[in-house]
Formats: sequence, C-alpha cells, structure tokens
Amino acid sequence: MDGLSRRKMMTTGGVLGAFGALGMASPAGARSLWTWAPSGSVAGEGAGLDPEWVWDEEVDALVAAVIDRGDVPRVNEELVKWTRNDQPLPAGLPGDLREYMERARQLPPWADRKKLETAAAFNERRGIYLNLLNGVGGGMLSTAIPREARSVYYSKGGADMEDRVAKTSLLGFAVGDLNAYRPDGKVVVEAVKTRLVHAAVRHLLPRSPGWSKVSGGQTVPISQADLLVTWHSLPTYTMGRLREWKVPVPPADAEAYLHLWQVTAHLLGIRDEYIPATWDAADAQYGQVLEPVLAPTPEGVELTDILLGQLAEQTSPGGIDRPLVNALARYLVGDRVADWDGIPAEPFWERAIATAWPKLVAFREKLIPLPLVPPLAWTIDEAVRQYILFYLTKGRGTSITLPETNRPS
Ligand code: HEM
Repeated sequence: MDGLSRRKMMTTGGVLGAFGALGMASPAGARSLWTWAPSGSVAGEGAGLDPEWVWDEEVDALVAAVIDRGDVPRVNEELVKWTRNDQPLPAGLPGDLREYMERARQLPPWADRKKLETAAAFNERRGIYLNLLNGVGGGMLSTAIPREARSVYYSKGGADMEDRVAKTSLLGFAVGDLNAYRPDGKVVVEAVKTRLVHAAVRHLLPRSPGWSKVSGGQTVPISQADLLVTWHSLPTYTMGRLREWKVPVPPADAEAYLHLWQVTAHLLGIRDEYIPATWDAADAQYGQVLEPVLAPTPEGVELTDILLGQLAEQTSPGGIDRPLVNALARYLVGDRVADWDGIPAEPFWERAIATAWPKLVAFREKLIPLPLVPPLAWTIDEAVRQYILFYLTKGRGTSITLPETNRPS
C-alpha cells in the first residue's frame, strides 16, 4: 500500500482506527449465525448447512489441477473463443473441464424463459437506474465488504484495476443486455467463466502471504456465504434503492428481475438451496448476510480511490470532476458506507444531488413537469450518463480468463 493511501486512510474519519492499525484484520468474521431456512429458497428444501463452510467442490478441484499442471495459458486461449450462449464449447479445452462446463452451462430446470424476457425488457426500460446501481453502487458497496475487498486486492486483478473493472463489467453488461439469456446473448458464457475464475482464486489466494494475514482465519476464500453477500450487493441492493427512489416497478417486473438474478446465481455456482425464492426471502437474507459484514478495510479504501479516480478521469474533460463523482458515489451507498470507503464528503454536490435526483426520477416517471426540475439536475444527469457509458464500454475487447498467479507483491 503506497504512502498516499496510508495518508488517506488516516483521514477516513478515524473509522478504521476502531478496528486497529493498518493491515490488521477488521471484523471480517462479524457474521451472524446462519438461521435462514432452505424452505425460502428456489429449491424449497436443503440440508440447511451454513454456507460459510461450503465452496464449489467439483470445479475447485478441476481448476486447481489445471493451474498445477501449467495448463492455464492453453485453457485461456480456448476460453476467449467461447462468446455466445448457444456456441458449442471450444474443442481444445481439456476433456474433464469441457465435460464439467457442458453441465455448468445448462439453465436450471426452474428457469422460466418468459420471465427472463420480461426481465430483459425491464432492464432496457430501466437501464439508467439499473446500470448506475449495479455498476457504480454495487462497486462501491463491494469495497466495503472486507472479504471481497481483500480477495480482489491480493489477487492478480488487484494490481491492475483498470483490467479488473473491465472484466467485471462484462458480466454486468451481459446480464443487463436485451439478449441476456437468448441464444446470441452472453450471460451463460460470462457466468460460467466467472465460476471458473472464482475456483482459481480459491486455489491461488491461500498461497498469498498478504491475503493470509488479513483473511480473519478464513483459509479458502469465496465460500457460498461470500457469494451470497456479493449477490445481494447487486439485485437486492438495487431493488431497495428503486423502492426508496419511488421508481414504479410493476410486480411482474420485480419478479422477473429477481428471476434473472436467481438464474445467474445458479450459473455462478450458488447452490439452489441458498438462492432466495421471493423478494421477502431475499430481503430477509440480505439483512442476515450482507448488513452485518459491511466494514472498512485499508484495501477497500485503496480500491475505492482507484475506482473513483478512474471514473473521474474517464468523465473529464467532459467536465465532470472528482467532487461530483465522489458525491454521486456517496449518494448511492449512503454516508456510513461512503465513510468506510474513504469517499470524501462533498457538501455542495451532496446537497445538490439530494435535491435534484428525486426530481429527476419524478420527471422521468412523468410525475412532475419539466419546470420543477432544477437546472443543476441536468449536470447530474449528464454525469450519470457518462458513468454508465464508462461502465458499459469498459469491457470492450477484453475477456474473462483464468488467473495463474496472485497480485505480485
Ligand atoms: C472475478 C463477479 C463474488 C472475488 C470475478 C469476475 C466477475 C466476478 C465477473 C471476472 C472478472 C475478472 O476476472 O477480473 C462476481 C459476482 C459475484 C462474485 C457476480 C457474486 C454474485 C465474489 C466474491 C469474492 C470475489 C464473494 C471474494 C470474496 C473475486 C476475485 C476475482 C473475481 C478475487 C478475480 C481475481 C483476479 O483478478 O485474478 N468476479 N464475483 N467474487 N472475483 Fe468475483
């Protein structure tokens, strides 16, 4: 961690001080007892095992073997050829991995094509909110999830956040696309590749001295519990904000949007017995798994700074400067998480956004006429559009591939 980040951390409202000096584990283990019943899941039943102790056994073993026998470059060469949902898997993949991926790419029997189409249309109509919340909001939330921030920081992509953001946006873009689950869409491809990447991280990260020092006793990263936490930082957080912003979401759209993310969770390797069946079940699980683990970490603060710096860089010289970027990020995640992420307070822009954003939403929803929208709102609207453009175009020309190392120390 460089000197700048250290200084920045010192000024992060002293919050980190509460958890000890730099580099010491924050309460990454601060999770509540697992009491969520599998009857609330898409499977409707299950063993009720604590997902903290469940990973992704089969693919973890396969990918570990690929790494250990030095096959990563060869596998990556094949993975980049696989780009569409309906495309046969590349013939050059090792047989065992190919056979596994053939099974992993199948939609679950409970997937409902009609709902997936409704969700795609909803994504198109509501793209501005959904992309903003999933892309920027979800990103800022994830840096306040200690285990995620630390895994990302100490893994290969942590050293090249430009590339990491680009690759991550590929999945977000695929999910939000009108073709998402159609034959020419990409969600199945990106989700299965991500499942493989997570398996690689489970094999590699335990060898990272940096990660092992801050893992809070966790010996293998990205458990099913961790996957659920991050999953909630996407659809559940997003739906919560849409409700708060009073964006009208018809029940059929809400159900379809949940379904889209249920199917995506399945493809990412989350077991059906943990995937919430309804929004009520999702909200209950969110309260149990996500809320209690949010906390500041030095790694999260540094990653947030890099992410926001990238946004500001991309959106200038169009005229959007870092204070507006900061203020919008603070608005999306709220003061508590923003302080934990070390996002500086920007009183002028924060006040402007708090006043203008609800008016913009109401105007877009045809609830108020144009004269009631303050002129400054259009600067904010333009910033939002630029963020989204940044997020959606970031992944062009890149591809999700297996890492073969951790972050070089
Ligand atoms: C990689 C999405 C959960 C840590 C990725 C990638 C995507 C993604 C799209 C590929 C991009 C890349 O290779 O850089 C998701 C989604 C999740 C989830 C949608 C949950 C629903 C998690 C969790 C952790 C995690 C819980 C850690 C606690 C990582 C790391 C990498 C990665 C460390 C790649 C590392 C590298 O750069 O080498 N994830 N992720 N992810 N994910 Fe996740």
